[in-house]
Amino acid sequence: MIKVEIKTTQNRYPVYLRQGILPLTGRFLRGCFSPCPVLLITDRNVFGHYGEICRKSLLQEGFKPIVAVVEGGEKDKSLKSASKLYSYAMEEGLDRKSVVLALGGGVTGDLAGFVAATYMRGLPFVQVPTTLLAMVDSSVGGKVAVNHPRGKNMIGAFYQPSLVLADPVVLKTLPQREFTAGLAELIKYGIILDKSLFRQFEHFALTCNKQPQEGQESIFLQLNNTFTLLRFIAKAVLIKGRVVAQDEKENGLRRILNFGHTFGHALEMATSYEYYLHGEAVAVGMIAATRLAARLKILGEKTAERILALLFRLNPPPPPPGLTAESVLNALPADKKKEGRELVFILPSAIGKTTVCKSPPVEELSAAINEYLKN
Ligand SMILES: NC(=O)c1ccc[n+]([C@@H]2O[C@H](COP(=O)([O-])OP(=O)(O)OC[C@H]3O[C@@H](n4cnc5c(N)ncnc54)[C@H](O)[C@@H]3O)[C@@H](O)[C@H]2O)c1
Repeated sequence: MIKVEIKTTQNRYPVYLRQGILPLTGRFLRGCFSPCPVLLITDRNVFGHYGEICRKSLLQEGFKPIVAVVEGGEKDKSLKSASKLYSYAMEEGLDRKSVVLALGGGVTGDLAGFVAATYMRGLPFVQVPTTLLAMVDSSVGGKVAVNHPRGKNMIGAFYQPSLVLADPVVLKTLPQREFTAGLAELIKYGIILDKSLFRQFEHFALTCNKQPQEGQESIFLQLNNTFTLLRFIAKAVLIKGRVVAQDEKENGLRRILNFGHTFGHALEMATSYEYYLHGEAVAVGMIAATRLAARLKILGEKTAERILALLFRLNPPPPPPGLTAESVLNALPADKKKEGRELVFILPSAIGKTTVCKSPPVEELSAAINEYLKN
């Protein structure tokens, strides 16, 4: 078992990473809480796979699981869903001595965390991530939110969990597309902060025995259910933990985790959140940001090529028909990461290093987007 300790100003909490930890959820909760009601929030899909395992393990340790199943998907990450969950929590008599547990991907984690942060001014919160993206990113660091029709994650809080339990065994049932989307966030850490992690991915891509044909899935799918993946996840959690410890509320250093996200969020918005998975949009966003960095001479051509080569191994989706550079550019200012009137981009300046670029020329932005649209 790997344990990573996350330290923030709000609290300090462990992330336990272990094959087969899910059926032990109740036992790990007992290490933190006395028996109490636990609002187990999950989506329909995940409930079908893992809901009963989690519920039974809570029961075995004397907790009272109260299961709330949401539909899932980005549309469910809303104030409407949160409101339904508040009503259910009230009907079931949940109080400050209860715990909220998120079992699922980033959507469930963000929604459940938002409910935990706001119901009765805050209940203890536990994350049990079941997607790769949630294991390496959203379950750690305390960003919780719901979407607003005018922007993604616009209503939220910084609210740290008390405990995170990640069981990579559950990734076996994760659809391949979702797995690859999570890998994009994992590779991101290598590009922005950890040269050795980047090199390990490059090494894997080079030595991996099965090379994909054009149009086939990413070769990185072969990582699923391997010890190498477990080590990569641990590394990502460690890196994210270090960043969050230094800048919990994203006033400085933490912004580097947004590499690829300014373009990514614009792509998601320009396609009404219906075409890309979040991690896919981030992968395309990282490609555009790398090209932008090369165009602005912030990044050398050869290094840009190395980063692009790795990102293309993820087989990011082609642009949907009808998507124009103009519609993506129009979606950019809606990103809440803009500072005042300035658009802020995190761009790589070397492997493992980034720089902040404020309001780059529109022609360069447009050219970086067009390179993707035309390929
Ligand atoms: N809070 C943060 O710091 C942070 C960071 C990154 C992303 N996010 C948010 O995370 C969300 C995306 O999260 P996601 O990619 O995990 O998507 P998701 O939660 O929608 O899960 C993806 C799909 O996989 C299914 N699924 C989950 N685990 C499964 C499993 N083990 N087996 C089979 N199916 C499974 C789900 O039912 C869903 O259909 C976005 O809303 C994004 O904004 C938050």
